[in-house]
Amino acid sequence: MYLQYCSSCHGREGKGDGPVSRDLKVKVPDLTGLAKKHKGSYPLDDVIATIDGRRLVRAHGDRAMPVWGEIFRSEAEGKKYPELTTLLKAKTIAEYIGTLQKK
Ligand code: HEC
Repeated sequence: MYLQYCSSCHGREGKGDGPVSRDLKVKVPDLTGLAKKHKGSYPLDDVIATIDGRRLVRAHGDRAMPVWGEIFRSEAEGKKYPELTTLLKAKTIAEYIGTLQKK
């Protein structure tokens, strides 16, 4: 799922160097340093919330990253447990990004 949804911007290894990143006006963040930025502990809950994006206040205007919570929700529409599926997708991807953290 990470490769499918995220690598175009964040790069195959999460370093922020995906092919689409060159076309954006903003810099795509390197996702491999999130644990380091948080004193060595990977902020899983924050990452899930950031990916989902539906509850974040858009204080600085629209974010450059798609609101995945809306996308996953519409993909799950009409299936069983759409809201749960949406959150689990974000959680699964967030856990995967946890495995990409540099020491
Ligand atoms: C269209 C390009 C694009 C795609 C696709 C994309 N992102 Fe992002 N992402 C960004 C940008 C740009 C930011 C910086 C914040 C902003 O401007 O929206 C960001 C920020 C983030 C952050 C916050 C990083 C930090 O330093 O706090 C996380 C986590 C993240 N993205 C995860 C993901 C995941 C997971 C996916 C796939 C489900 C994904 N992104 C897909 C462009 C993208």
